[in-house]
Amino acid sequence: MCAERKRISLDYSKVMKHIKKEDLDRIAADVARVRAMMQSKNCPGSEYLGWLDLPSRTTKEELHEIMETAFVAIGNSDAFLVVGIGGSYLGARAVLSAMLPAYYNEMALISGRQIPRIYYTGCDLSPQAMHDLLELINNRRVTINIISKSGSTTEPALAFRILRDHFIRKLGKEEAKRRVIATTDKARGSLKRLAEREGYRTFAIPDDVGGRFSVLTPVGLLPIAVGGVDINELLQGARDMAACCSEPDMMKNPAVLYAAIRNLLLQKGRSIEILAGFEPSLHFFGEWWKQLFGESEGKNGKGIYPDYLDFSTDLHSMGQWIQEGVRSVFETFLVVEEPRADVKVPADEQNSDNLNYLSDKSLSWINLRAYEGVSAAHLEGDVPSTALRIPKLDAYHVGQLIYFFEYAVAVSGYLLGVNPFDQPGVESYKKNMFALLGKPGFEAQGEALQKLIAGGSQYIA
Ligand code: PA5
Repeated sequence: MCAERKRISLDYSKVMKHIKKEDLDRIAADVARVRAMMQSKNCPGSEYLGWLDLPSRTTKEELHEIMETAFVAIGNSDAFLVVGIGGSYLGARAVLSAMLPAYYNEMALISGRQIPRIYYTGCDLSPQAMHDLLELINNRRVTINIISKSGSTTEPALAFRILRDHFIRKLGKEEAKRRVIATTDKARGSLKRLAEREGYRTFAIPDDVGGRFSVLTPVGLLPIAVGGVDINELLQGARDMAACCSEPDMMKNPAVLYAAIRNLLLQKGRSIEILAGFEPSLHFFGEWWKQLFGESEGKNGKGIYPDYLDFSTDLHSMGQWIQEGVRSVFETFLVVEEPRADVKVPADEQNSDNLNYLSDKSLSWINLRAYEGVSAAHLEGDVPSTALRIPKLDAYHVGQLIYFFEYAVAVSGYLLGVNPFDQPGVESYKKNMFALLGKPGFEAQGEALQKLIAGGSQYIA
């Protein structure tokens, strides 16, 4: 039941040396069981399955509100700051990097339109980075979008306090307030309380959508709209992929087949997945994917380790390892079929660089040959791979890609036997940070940690 428009497809021909038809038949029953569980919401973490129908349940009014807010921010800002960490910023960054020109922050106009420069902060604790950002935006008209579902994550909360203080001193309390948009829980958390007290413009994150699945909520949609990307098309792509994901036959359902294949490969000892793109603009899509898969699957001593590489760049650093290192990897290639822009190799009478055999060829044609060459070489080196073929990097297909991976990781996590929607490991680190920083309520844990750290340190000079 897939849509008429072109959709992303999965080429699995290069895993069939490693996976037999019987393997696929065997896992099909598990896949059917997992999907039935998801459909009936009778599974661990079922309270976080809201992303499943998010593309179809988002109303025109909600989208209108987001676009209106984005329109105001575009008009009154030179810089738009996305303040968030993990799922609260990676989705927006992934889509904007994939969709905007490579050097968009250096460009005056994008497709004839002016958009604010977009910066990401609150995703680390670097004093240098914060200092440099404050210098950079000092004389700019800035909108701050603070995004945190819990409202208490240290990195974004700290960054926001520093930025707030900076702008209150610069602009005065009232104008500084008007420059903040808070995206957070609809009722709970420190950020929600602060937003209410200060009267910030706010957007609510649905209860049933977890951080790393929230790109199609205001978490991602607002910054994406500020970047001038068509969020209707993004959601349309996700909706059409949701329809594809409802196909019961695993062999006709690319997201489910991808989930099944990676689980079969894990059973055969392939515990590392390399997602590799041939477009640098997909780098942050890779970062988003790493979080989605790493946090959803890596628990209870289980999980496939997800890594992202930029090809052909990283072939000159990691290519050797992939070709001949420990045979624990498999690859998933992101192949863009039609670039948004292309460049041809010019002819050169002298031919001193011996490149005339490529004269008049386009870089996109050469890039596709690089993909073919790499996948064949790696298969020869005993690395199985699948390829996701993306017709074009536009909002519609990026929307498809987002839903594809969200659906795939849910099926894959349940096949592994974990709850894909919690992240107890991340919570442990957050609690340790609170304890070490002296947050009230964490005193006992703080003392124990101090002892552990003092006792466990060994230095050489
Ligand atoms: O997927 C998740 O839930 C997490 O990775 C969160 O996105 C991340 O920890 C940020 O949390 P918060 O939005 O509460 O600040």
